[in-house]
Amino acid sequence: MEQEFHQIRSLPPYVFAEVNEMKAKAKAEGRDVIDFGMGNPDQPTPQHIVDKLCEAANNPKMHGYSTSIGIPELRKALSSYYGRRFNVDLDPETEVVSSIGSKEGLASLAKAITSPGDTILVPNPSYPIHLFGFIIAGGFLKPMPIKPDENLIKAIDHAARYSVPKPTAVVISYPSNPTALMADLSFYEEVVKVCKKHDIYILSDIAYAELYFDGNKPPSMLQVKGAKDITVEFYSLSKTYNMPGWRIGFAAGNKKLIAALTRVKSYLDYGSFTPIQLAATEALNGPQDCVEEIRTMYQGRRDVLISSFAKAGWNIPKPPATMFAWSALPEQFKHLSSMEFTKLLLNETGIAVSPGDGFGEFGEGFVRLAIVENEARIQQAAKELERFMANSSKILEDYERRKA
Ligand SMILES: Cc1ncc(COP(=O)(O)O)c(C=O)c1O
Repeated sequence: MEQEFHQIRSLPPYVFAEVNEMKAKAKAEGRDVIDFGMGNPDQPTPQHIVDKLCEAANNPKMHGYSTSIGIPELRKALSSYYGRRFNVDLDPETEVVSSIGSKEGLASLAKAITSPGDTILVPNPSYPIHLFGFIIAGGFLKPMPIKPDENLIKAIDHAARYSVPKPTAVVISYPSNPTALMADLSFYEEVVKVCKKHDIYILSDIAYAELYFDGNKPPSMLQVKGAKDITVEFYSLSKTYNMPGWRIGFAAGNKKLIAALTRVKSYLDYGSFTPIQLAATEALNGPQDCVEEIRTMYQGRRDVLISSFAKAGWNIPKPPATMFAWSALPEQFKHLSSMEFTKLLLNETGIAVSPGDGFGEFGEGFVRLAIVENEARIQQAAKELERFMANSSKILEDYERRKA
């Protein structure tokens, strides 16, 4: 067969696939890989959540198809969370839908609201589904700046005036993966204002809303008065409760968008396994000390990473939230591409990071470090890094010779 699939041509191999292959090869060769590559939490899910899953899974009544919108208890639990944490009212019947992880929710909503050729505004670099959810749906992406400041507001305004067709939606995601940038409520007010002016829907993703440091809590876009008229927000349990493999998340907010997402999902899936939904309900309604423990753990790791890497000669900006650090390549290596640097670092030190261009073309020149190794391993990485930085001239010379 000679046929080429249009959809597949528009999807380059997933960035992490290439890095994962490199890591697998290094591990197969018996090397110790200190893995800051993928944002996959390394710690277990809190025991009371696992216990709830086991209890429910032992009940045969739970083994049938579930509901794609999510069981009522779970939707109510999310609504209570929004009330407690953000002082936002959500009707669990019409303003909340659960998803099989927020990645699925984002992709399904993109499918629901995008016609081929529609313009969508997405910051670049971004978490890949923010970009590719719309590419898969046939949308045309207009890259937006990533910093939450007046330039982003101006860029939305400009795109609304001059894009043909007029943008349908903008994706906003803070604290950000990969850059770890954070937004405040006054910025969100400006986003809502400019989007209302131009009739643009807002898709806000707050997957890291609970992974904040130094007491600086991220707000929700839905806290802005009138935001619900145009906004749907995605929330995930993956990082807050160390539940990435469970695949459970939410969309909440604007009724029309929630209805559109619910309709598409009713055709595509039956929701997560009911025991998982019950365990997620327990996560949201149960004791929250585990969230504080997870937050404190990442803050401790962040501090060790930033100080030990700085001592080794690589100054990485201190992230105010998330489980990521985002950094320009060290000065000596700036002439390399992000992927070249990633490969060289892995080969020379066993330290795995993610190349920034995997998150979009404007991520070139940067790498992302996921802080999913413990403090001792971070210190070990810093030792390897120190040697790498001290020998950078020789390492680069050898590298250029091998390349020639
Ligand atoms: C910004 C952002 N949104 C969503 C997700 C996906 O979360 P989930 O596991 O709920 O699909 C991630 C995962 O890394 C993320 O970084």
